[in-house]
Amino acid sequence: MGSVRIKELKAGMVLADDVTDIKGRLLLPKGRPIGPDHIRIFKIWGVARVNVMGGPKECEPAGQPIDPARLEAIRRALENRFRLTDRNHPVVQEIFAQALQARASDLFPAVNAAGLPEPAPEADGVSQPREDFFQKFIEKEILLPEIPTIVMEMNEVIANPLSTADQMAQVVNKSPSLTAQLLRIVNSAFYGLPTRVDRVSLAVTLIGTRELSALALGISIMSLFKIIPSRLLNMQLFLQHSLACGIVCRLLAAHKAMRHTEQMFTAGLLHDIGRLVICIHFPEEILECMGHAALKGTSLFAAEMEKLGCHHGHIGKYLLHQWRLPLSLENNASCHHEPTEAPDPAAAALVHVADLLVNALGIGSSGERCVPPLDPRAWEDSGLSSECFETVVQQTAHQFKTLEFLLQTKAP
Ligand SMILES: [Fe+2]
Ligand SMILES: [Fe+2]
Repeated sequence: MGSVRIKELKAGMVLADDVTDIKGRLLLPKGRPIGPDHIRIFKIWGVARVNVMGGPKECEPAGQPIDPARLEAIRRALENRFRLTDRNHPVVQEIFAQALQARASDLFPAVNAAGLPEPAPEADGVSQPREDFFQKFIEKEILLPEIPTIVMEMNEVIANPLSTADQMAQVVNKSPSLTAQLLRIVNSAFYGLPTRVDRVSLAVTLIGTRELSALALGISIMSLFKIIPSRLLNMQLFLQHSLACGIVCRLLAAHKAMRHTEQMFTAGLLHDIGRLVICIHFPEEILECMGHAALKGTSLFAAEMEKLGCHHGHIGKYLLHQWRLPLSLENNASCHHEPTEAPDPAAAALVHVADLLVNALGIGSSGERCVPPLDPRAWEDSGLSSECFETVVQQTAHQFKTLEFLLQTKAP
């Protein structure tokens, strides 16, 4: 018997063990020969490896050997990217190994330095910390982008325990673009449903009211922020980072057999939204933070704390609160860098781990150039096992491709 990576699996091999998805649902029983359709289904469900009959030699993959010099260059670049986190922690080591593998096999569109705006390094000691920044932020009474009415209407429907799937569908159907986006997601590998879903009421029935509204909420809000000056932030990279975090959060939640995994998708999607608000309303301050981070070799998060006395998590919480969005979203956005301080540390820890993994894989960027430090207590709180990372990375690659269209959409 041998363990074979999915990309090296050949039709005709025979399964030595049952193959299940991350929720334990049987995809193909042992003893069955594998056909081309099975390989496609395994990919959709993020199965990373399967055990097949035959000696290990027969099953040994004939994958493309990686040029040692290239691998070494990727490793060195990654080591630099991991410089702020404890490389001796076993979980960080596993994430590093997965990131190295993913980058060497070009699994994701990796961000290179040219993708990020180059910060002007500050002159050391010139600028003073602004510890009253958060107060000024609130007092400025900035005009926050208006949340789409349709999102508020959806929130009202889900807040009412007597609401029906048809009522939810009626609200969504008011926006043709939101309807089209949701149906596209529901019919994508994100769900891998066996039948085509052609109407919102059926989608609500299959996925659930809360889940569908969480999806709609996330994609509607991200659509509000499309124009950020490129000298501050590469918006396309920011959206890629957010989408990937949403996907990873949902996958990690599924690994823990959590209910309402779509709410974790939205939590991941919106976790860094506070940074967008800072970029829009306080461009000089964020530029100063970027320069400070470049000069000191720290994270942008740490530079925000040092220069502004608060960070993008605090601003995100304020924004989501003003919009009267669910408290869990506020808390996950607020605490994704300090998850043990969250009222629900386990949920915030998932966002924390997802953020770390996405930064390690280099899918987009929220303006950070390094992998944020892992909080070991948060890892304990997460209840995760690092064995899930290989599957999560593979499944993220597949789902990211199918959801990339969300990065180009307009507000509903
Ligand atoms: Fe963040
Ligand atoms: Fe992030």
